[in-house]
Amino acid sequence: MSFVEYEELIKEGDTAIIFLGHGSMFPVQVQRGAQTQTKYGVIRHSAHLIGQPFGSRVTCSKGGWVYVLHPTPELWTLNLPHRTQILYSTDISIITMMLELKPGSVVCESGTGSGSLSHAIIRTVAPTGHLHTVEFHQQRAQKAEEEFREHRVDRWVTVRNQDVCKNGFGVSHVADAVFLDIPSPWEAIGHAKDALKVEGGRLCSFSPCIEQVQRTCQALAEHGFIEVTTLEILLREYNVRTANLPLPDLGGALDPLPVLGEAQFKIGVPLRETVGHTGYLTFASKSLF
Ligand SMILES: C[S@@+](CC[C@H](N)C(=O)[O-])C[C@H]1O[C@@H](n2cnc3c(N)ncnc32)[C@H](O)[C@@H]1O
Repeated sequence: MSFVEYEELIKEGDTAIIFLGHGSMFPVQVQRGAQTQTKYGVIRHSAHLIGQPFGSRVTCSKGGWVYVLHPTPELWTLNLPHRTQILYSTDISIITMMLELKPGSVVCESGTGSGSLSHAIIRTVAPTGHLHTVEFHQQRAQKAEEEFREHRVDRWVTVRNQDVCKNGFGVSHVADAVFLDIPSPWEAIGHAKDALKVEGGRLCSFSPCIEQVQRTCQALAEHGFIEVTTLEILLREYNVRTANLPLPDLGGALDPLPVLGEAQFKIGVPLRETVGHTGYLTFASKSLF
């Protein structure tokens, strides 16, 4: 298993996602002889997981069942151990598109944080691209490196434990795109410019507060970046379901409106709980001149 290539069968050392039901899942590291407790009973890795196809329905010791899913960056974002605030798939999808990421792209990122965005970038740029990710918190940098190895994506990523505002990304004129998710992105804009290819490239900075955006836009202008735009991505999800509604006789009297009977309609209802503000995404291009 790797987060970049799909494999049919579960092996020892793989990360698998145990799916218990809507909104309830967690990751496991598959190990011969290991057991995982769930509300439906025990999952025995040797008997229930190793050698089974990803996607299998596994019956636990109390008779209930779970699905064992192949990991993807999207599932990892929903299940990863949080060491920091993370980026979620709605923002990640816009970042990927607006930075024009594709197989072969070289990307510089800081901070690595919990690696949520990093996994998505790696999946997009593989098999010929690379991610250079910079994190100044030593344990976070180390843990991210461990996870990239466990998820067999380490050949597409270099983790550097340094302060991006002081020491930059550790590479010059190689990146097609730079992404910043740090508290003071304006202090890293000069290093971002240096990391981008001489012929230009794209930049994105994520900040929760508008005051951070103001200072970042100021720094982008001072460093000659162009096409500066800031977006806030708000997702509105709908639950589409069937409803029985009265069918009015529109050719009849108006008051009261005669009813011909009942009919089935598909209706869309916005979910009661929706995600609100996450942050602002500021995009810019490095100018050739
Ligand atoms: C919000 S987290 C990033 C989350 C990440 N985008 C994700 O999706 O998991 C911000 C990270 O930036 C790191 N950081 C803050 N300032 C930094 C700097 N100047 N240089 C390098 N890393 C920095 C923090 O230690 C933290 O881990």
